Amino acid sequence: MAKLTDQIPQHRQNRCGSKPIFINRWSPRAMTGETIADEVLMGLFEAAHWAMSSNNNQPWRFIYARRDHSDWNKFLGLLAEGNRVWCVNAAMLMVMVAKTTFDNGKPARTHAFDTGAAWGMFALEGASRGLVVHGMQGFDYDRAKSELGVPDGYEVQAMAAVGILADADTLPEPYREREKPSTRKELAGIAAEGGFTENIR
Ligand SMILES: Cc1cc2nc3c(=O)[nH]c(=O)nc-3n(C[C@H](O)[C@H](O)[C@H](O)COP(=O)(O)O)c2cc1C
Repeated sequence: MAKLTDQIPQHRQNRCGSKPIFINRWSPRAMTGETIADEVLMGLFEAAHWAMSSNNNQPWRFIYARRDHSDWNKFLGLLAEGNRVWCVNAAMLMVMVAKTTFDNGKPARTHAFDTGAAWGMFALEGASRGLVVHGMQGFDYDRAKSELGVPDGYEVQAMAAVGILADADTLPEPYREREKPSTRKELAGIAAEGGFTENIR
């Protein structure tokens, strides 16, 4: 049985001693097509809803369909073909939405930033449970807004698939060959002290 951590040691190094979950989380595509118990899925939403946000505005909204729900095909139909081919085996698909204002009606400048933070918590919680959690930009944003009834004042941010990890050889090419944890830029290329120095350009 495939495990999320199987390929980590070959591809990623933990150089500064951060907690293993940050290194172990990645975005596989191979999923078994099995369902996931509701209490497990709710655990992922719970992790997300404890995220920090500007003024505790909690602008994140998650609209989802489990694979046995009557709207499953509607969610699947929003995806670009290159995502749909492997998402057919997900247990859940979701669209993440951000409320663009505070409850007093003033613009919430960090609505997308805060919703991204909640998504990060969701993904880490899923990874800690050994699940596939895979974010997606490859879908029709306009259709997601209209077909899911997202009101004005809310922006569609991204989709994600959640599922039970399967062996890479269940995927068609080119996905099979790509089914490995990615690497990252060096830390020196993303963090600079005192100003926007040349090394982070
Ligand atoms: C907002 C967002 C959109 C993404 N869109 C897609 C997508 O449409 N299709 C896809 O296969 N992967 C997509 N990904 C996955 C990224 O390619 C992946 O997170 C990145 O390469 C880093 O790899 P890792 O998550 O395995 O560490 C997306 C991820 C995020 C966070």
